[in-house]
Parts: sequence; structure tokens; C-alpha cells
Amino acid sequence: MDGSTQVHVRNHDLLADALAGLTADEKTLGPKWLYDHRGSALFEKITRLPEYYPTRTEAGILHDNAAALAGLVPSAGALVELGSGASVKTRTLLDAGGHIGAYVPIDISRDFLLETAAALKNAYPALDVVPVVADFTAPVTLPDALAALPKAAFFPGSTIGNLTPARAQALLSGVRAWPGIEAFILGADMVKDISQLIAAYDDAQGVTAEFISNILVRLNRETGADFDLNAFDYKATWNADLARIDMHLVSNRSQQVTVGERTIPFYAGEPIHVSAARKYTTNSLTALANSTGWDLHDCHTDANGRFSVAVLRPGG
Ligand SMILES: C[S@@+](CC[C@H](N)C(=O)[O-])C[C@H]1O[C@@H](n2cnc3c(N)ncnc32)[C@H](O)[C@@H]1O
Repeated sequence: MDGSTQVHVRNHDLLADALAGLTADEKTLGPKWLYDHRGSALFEKITRLPEYYPTRTEAGILHDNAAALAGLVPSAGALVELGSGASVKTRTLLDAGGHIGAYVPIDISRDFLLETAAALKNAYPALDVVPVVADFTAPVTLPDALAALPKAAFFPGSTIGNLTPARAQALLSGVRAWPGIEAFILGADMVKDISQLIAAYDDAQGVTAEFISNILVRLNRETGADFDLNAFDYKATWNADLARIDMHLVSNRSQQVTVGERTIPFYAGEPIHVSAARKYTTNSLTALANSTGWDLHDCHTDANGRFSVAVLRPGG
């Protein structure tokens, strides 16, 4: 099998998903495809940008409440993280949680996940680190050895905001059904001043634009598509009705792009919706929890109420 055949076999799902989105009336590309190794590294760069307050704010909340949050993981139980990325914030919980038996980072970005897990194994030799490559928009099955352990789930980074309401509900309901689940630690970014939000998702250095454009880089490399990166501009807008930032790539001219066997036409100014970042209020977080079998037990926030780390407990 030559290299190009392997690429097409490996990325059948990417191509099928992209074609479904690009032939819809309003063009879309799925945000999970942003995260190959380059995408994960670009996201880490975003977390260090001056405009990107969510990471620093959430890290501060985790730091200030580390003992209480780590204490939600049962003794010798597992901390299971969804969309773990570089697991930077996780270290705050692991440092405060010497009683934690296993750490299970789950991520779709395989190579980045395995590199991160290797680094964590070195840093925490007494901890059982069990990386799981999985797509959390489908039901996640935990390895047999861990399934029976008492456990807490951790979903930081406001990644919940990238999911559609239906997918967010499905994920919370799915985790609620895990055997031995005792708590869910959920990081959620809150509704706030629009200019702060837009700045966070459209930074002056253009790193977010590069991150979102990575989906076109990936389609070109992994499926043989011929997107001209210079023919698409990045645009972030606030959607008040849905309380979310929408991230688009906008065709800056009339053009045709070949994707798989299809020719995809674009008019000048036509957007592709690539990602969304929903913002929450205490009410909308409570509603999400209650509709999925959880109770909002506690909500840790920063002094300015910009971000929340919610503690969910199994509900009645
Ligand atoms: C916004 S980043 C958050 C990273 C990290 N948890 C943090 O708080 O900084 C989202 C993470 O979720 C992962 N991810 C995105 N979509 C995913 C999916 N459908 N299934 C599994 N992981 C996914 C990405 O690879 C990335 O590591």
C-alpha cells in the first residue's frame, strides 16, 4: 500500500464528514477535525495569548479550589478527563490528589495524547496513566480494568461550549451512566461583555485564525482537497440568540474547490461554519445538569464571574 492510499483509508471519516458539511445549504466543517498534532499545538498557543482569558481564569479557579476538587475523586479511584489536550490544568488536581489511583485522559488527537500521557507517567510514577483515543461525540467505552473503579469525570477548557446542545446533553447523560461515577467537574465559560469575547476568539496575532484554518490544511494534506488558504478569511461573531461565538472561514472570492470526487462552489463572502463556543449562565448550566441526570452541587467562579468550574453530582 503506498503512502497516499494509507492517507485516504485513514481519513475516510474526515472526507465523508467534510463532504456532508460542504454540500449542505449552510456550509459547515466539524470542529473535532481541528485537532491533529498541529491543531493541538496551535490550541496550546492560544491558551497563552493575552486575549484568551478562559485558560488563565479556569486555571486560577482550579488552583484556588484544588483540594476540594481533587477530593471529589474517590480514594484509589480514577480521574477521567474528556478532551484532555496537554493536561496542563489536570496537574493541579493530580498535585492535590495523592489519593488518586488512575488518570484516564481521553482525546481525539492521538499523537498529542500519547506524548502527553508519556510525560505524565514520568511526572507521576505512582499514578496509573491510561490514555484512551476516542471521539466523545459518540458514547465512550472505558477500558475494562477501569470501568468498575469509582471515578470522577473532568471536562475543562469550556470544551462543552464547542458542542451543540444535543451533543452536550448526550455527553453528560453518557457519563452519568458510567459505572462508579461520583462527580463531574465541568469547566464552562460564562456570558460576558461581547468585546472581551470577540477579542478572545479573534486575537491580534492571528493564532486563532491559524488554528481554525488548520481544518483546510488538514483536508488538503489528508484527503487531497485543493483549498487555497489565501482565499478564506477567518471571522468570529457573537450569536446572541444562541449565546455563542461562531467561528467561520469566509470565502473572499467566487471560487470552486475540489474535495474528494466533488467540486464545491463558493460565492464571494460565503461562510463555512467551523466551530462555536457557547457561553453559559448559572441558569443554563443548572438546566443542562438537570436535563441529564445531574445536580449542580457547587459552582466555583473567579472574582469577576468570567468562568465557572461546576461540580455536578448524580441527581435523583
Ligand atoms: C478546547 S481544547 C481543551 C484542552 C484542555 N482540556 C484544556 O482545558 O486546555 C479541546 C480538547 O478536546 C479535544 N477534542 C475535541 N473534540 C473532540 C472529540 N470529539 N472527541 C475527543 N476529544 C476531542 C481536542 O483534541 C482538545 O484537546
